[in-house]
Amino acid sequence: MNFKKSWILTEDGSHTLKIEDLKETYHSLHGALRESEFVYLEKGLHFWQKANPQAKCRLLEMGYGTGLLAYLTFLRNTESPVDYTSLEAYPLTVNDYKKLNYNELLVENTDLSFVAFSALSWEIAHPLTPTFTLIKHHTFFEQFTATHSFDLIYYDAFGAHAQPALWEKEWMEKCFSLLSSGGVWVSYCAKGSVRRALQEVGFSVERLEGPPGKREMLRAVKP
Ligand SMILES: C[S@@+](CC[C@H](N)C(=O)[O-])C[C@H]1O[C@@H](n2cnc3c(N)ncnc32)[C@H](O)[C@@H]1O
Repeated sequence: MNFKKSWILTEDGSHTLKIEDLKETYHSLHGALRESEFVYLEKGLHFWQKANPQAKCRLLEMGYGTGLLAYLTFLRNTESPVDYTSLEAYPLTVNDYKKLNYNELLVENTDLSFVAFSALSWEIAHPLTPTFTLIKHHTFFEQFTATHSFDLIYYDAFGAHAQPALWEKEWMEKCFSLLSSGGVWVSYCAKGSVRRALQEVGFSVERLEGPPGKREMLRAVKP
């Protein structure tokens, strides 16, 4: 996707990117950081970890994008182990990452800055800490073949108005088959057709209160 991008400051002071041609942003304009923390860390990872204390979470992110969600998970997850696999069809360039303000905003207890994290090579597993390993694949979700099952999927595709195909039943079915029993699928999306597709392929689906500026979001569990 060689589209024109612009850098936008969201309401919580963190940047996001906008693809002008799709009229689509990588995160909520109400707060990129806040949305990532609330939807994926709080309602996804922490929910799974509560049900599986101390267990290793094999996590799959659909849409690496800016790397904000991966970096936040790396920074905030210091207790239980996480193996983080991320898929991205259209990786950003090093310069794109550098223009985001996450390097200045996220100065937490780590030697690995956001820019250094973003420069990690693709297709190689990086054991960054005793509790966090990252592997990024430059591939389409549709073409991804897994070598093991996952416990949690961060489904962070662009919205259904921009990329409707990725929210269809076929791909919800793929998510279902990628997950282990008890595995969790979580997304900012609250669309009725997506909720029904998730139910039809076998998930137990919950509608949860959304992050600031969004009424609802979805979480689904594989029985
Ligand atoms: C909403 S953004 C993800 C935001 C990201 N999680 C972050 O923290 O910045 C959606 C991402 O999915 C990627 N994408 C779009 N179609 C895809 C596909 N078929 N397979 C894999 N990635 C795709 C886009 O290039 C974009 O980076």
